[in-house]
Amino acid sequence: MGNILIKNAEIITMNKQEEIIHGDVRIKDDLIVEIGTGLIPQGDEQIIDATNRTLIPGFIQTHIHLCQTLFRGKGDDLELMDWLRKRIWPLEAAHDEESLYYSAMLGIGELITSGTTTIVDMETVHHTDFAFQAIAKSGIRALSGKVMMDQKGGDVPEALQEDTASSLQESVDLLEKWNGYGNGRIQYAFSPRFVISCTEPLLTEVRDLSARYDVKVHTHASENLGEIEIVQAMTGMRNIVYLDHLGLANERLILAHCVWLDAEERRILRDRGVHVSHCPGSNLKLASGIADTPGMLHEHVSLSLGADGAPCNNNLDMFNEMRLAAIIQKPHHGPTTMDARSVFRMATIGGAKAVGMEDKIGSIEVGKKADLVLLNLYNFHTFPSYDVDPISRIVYSATRADVETTIIDGEIVMERGLLKTVDKEI
Ligand code: GUN
Ligand code: FE
Repeated sequence: MGNILIKNAEIITMNKQEEIIHGDVRIKDDLIVEIGTGLIPQGDEQIIDATNRTLIPGFIQTHIHLCQTLFRGKGDDLELMDWLRKRIWPLEAAHDEESLYYSAMLGIGELITSGTTTIVDMETVHHTDFAFQAIAKSGIRALSGKVMMDQKGGDVPEALQEDTASSLQESVDLLEKWNGYGNGRIQYAFSPRFVISCTEPLLTEVRDLSARYDVKVHTHASENLGEIEIVQAMTGMRNIVYLDHLGLANERLILAHCVWLDAEERRILRDRGVHVSHCPGSNLKLASGIADTPGMLHEHVSLSLGADGAPCNNNLDMFNEMRLAAIIQKPHHGPTTMDARSVFRMATIGGAKAVGMEDKIGSIEVGKKADLVLLNLYNFHTFPSYDVDPISRIVYSATRADVETTIIDGEIVMERGLLKTVDKEI
């Protein structure tokens, strides 16, 4: 962790009182300790000249599968259940320790170079320790866990089917090893894949364990109409109603997708404080549908963004997700719906709320973690619009090529395209 002084930046704070300011940011160890103008360098501080640069809070992606990065392009043009059965489950079953490690590293490299500093990640059934090793070494902030799949049958390859007891035990072993690792940069999140792949005893035990350890539960729900039909046949209930019936719908739950909800389900999500991870690119490419995010925002459901796995939308870039989140709603709901600020909030402070770290990440304020991204918005595709509102410029014009420096927990993990590993022990 460094002592760094960032000078002369345009700063998008996401702090409501002063959303955009010009000035300097001082980082000491893992924290932002001072924001102002004309700050004088102290001691051995590294100085970053951010003249003509824009400093933003690092993006927070609340739904990622690092284990799937190597499968990009191997499951194109299928819808969810076919995509899982024919391509993704057999590929996940074929992972070994080394392939999982490199799949994770490749995904993390892509995330860090495109400005993502925190992820909520779901691994596969086996070898998850190696994904945690990649996370530890890379410096990314992550909540991650092994996927849980103890429901037999359903075309799941035998290699991915687990016993309830061993699924739980392996999860707890990983939690005890990794939760809190690296100055708290890594957290464990229980990851039952979705209702279809899990037994009721497993889900209720996960509910109790997540309360006991105070960690998140990360799962998929109501992504696809075929999935919902299977859940209805299995449980006699709609997906979110079932999760609520089991006592899982609470503020520790992060639910990916939520494309097909009825009014009762939306009310449950809001009343219980469940966090929805909206994945627009994945929802489009897997032909799942278009989630009613304007409706959810209107009803005060907690919303954040995620790219999902690399083979879902072939891109882990948050710029892509923000732009899609905005533009897919406009034909039906009008041009001011899901404006640039709404999606930028989902990508930053919305994600921080989802992971329970609203007081630590998601905005640029004194006392918060130094999870920061420096953008050069004077590239050819953004330059002609330099007098446009910077948040609009980022959402509608910026790309990963504009990311110059990524800082996580006060550590420079990427500078001008070069990644640096932070954990020398691993
Ligand atoms: N539902 C259950 N598993 C998965 C997965 O790996 N990806 C997506 N998009 N949806 C799922
Ligand atoms: Fe997913």
